[in-house]
Amino acid sequence: MLFRSWAQTADAHWPDVARVPDHVGVAHLVVTRHALVRQVLTDPVTYRPDNALDAVTPVPVSALRVLAGHRFRLPPTLANNGGASHPAIRAIVAEALHPTRVAAQLPWLTGLVRERVGRIDAALDGGAPVDLHAELAADLPLLVLARLVELPDAPVGAVKEFARAALELFWAPLDGGRQQALAAEVGRFHRVLREFAATGGGLAGTLRAAGHPPDVLVGALFFLLVAGQETTSQFLTLLLHRLAGEPTVLAGLRDGTVAVADVVEEGLRLEPPIVTWRRVAAVDTTLGGTAVPAGTSIVLWLARAGRDPVTVDAPDEFRPGQRGSRRHLAFGAGAHRCVGDQLARTEAAVVVAEAAPLLDGVTVIRRPWCPDNLTFRMPDAFVVRRR
Ligand code: HEM
Repeated sequence: MLFRSWAQTADAHWPDVARVPDHVGVAHLVVTRHALVRQVLTDPVTYRPDNALDAVTPVPVSALRVLAGHRFRLPPTLANNGGASHPAIRAIVAEALHPTRVAAQLPWLTGLVRERVGRIDAALDGGAPVDLHAELAADLPLLVLARLVELPDAPVGAVKEFARAALELFWAPLDGGRQQALAAEVGRFHRVLREFAATGGGLAGTLRAAGHPPDVLVGALFFLLVAGQETTSQFLTLLLHRLAGEPTVLAGLRDGTVAVADVVEEGLRLEPPIVTWRRVAAVDTTLGGTAVPAGTSIVLWLARAGRDPVTVDAPDEFRPGQRGSRRHLAFGAGAHRCVGDQLARTEAAVVVAEAAPLLDGVTVIRRPWCPDNLTFRMPDAFVVRRR
């Protein structure tokens, strides 16, 4: 269950807090209720973020050697940093992603999406099948991110491969051979980041000027290149796929009775690209009546919390604007709440506004397939054809 939590049927009963062994025998405490997930996220003293980027399948010595060969290190920087340096690093990253800087990208972003939609529309008109993930969603967030944050000069394909390798290495159930291959991929790109961090400007330069050590610069860039683009491209694909099966919502978008922003929020609630997120208990405590010993790995089921009947009227239905729709925890909560939320929302809003009309009258040829993963959905493709 742990690696396909998003595939759980809507009516599957889950206790508020459940102990679940994973494939390597480690017991995780899975938390499902909105109030409890929120309680953990917003209490960084009792529940620390230190394990956020720990490999869920322990990395064997052979793969650790590969990583060490690339001088790979991932010190506490952003999501996994419960220490004193976190607020200052976060503030610099938040400045780079400030809503006014994001809003300034809107005309360019709209133009790019419109151009892509035009091309896709023509292909669909000609009877061709189109992969909306590849043609629209996959690289878009990276292109936007590169306009906000100075990034190493690497081909888009190389960044995407690295990011997906990182998501697999840290969050998937794996065997040793695969871990070694992924370690090589991730290690190679880490080297690129290290070289860029030494001299790069923009965010890297600001962090350097503020006195943060090179490891922190690399850690911040690493996290941004993974979480700051892969999440959003996954979300765009999942949302488009969901909308293809929601004719009433498409009709509402068409006649203006459904707001794009409400569609995005309902999408985040029902199709979050990050299904779970982790914390670790810092002390012996109790959660929802369950004893939690210090050191327990806590898996916060963000997707399930978004479907908690206590917070939302029709938990499993895609009803934009319904009561509780915006109370999802797709971006986390508290001191580590996502700093890219406005960016992700903006990108999704543009894609919904421009691309939803493409979904009218299409047949889904291939729905997104998602690999086993504790946290990320990682859809691979979404192919449609016009009827
Ligand atoms: C739909 C897209 C996205 C989703 C669902 C998402 C979700 C999340 C979640 C669940 C967390 C952990 C929050 C916590 O621990 O409470 C997080 C943290 C973070 N996200 Fe996002 N994210 C998305 C897009 C982005 C984008 C576009 C960026 C930047 C370009 C970004 C940058 C970050 C950063 C830097 C953190 C760490 C914040 C900290 O520890 O202070 N994310 N995100």
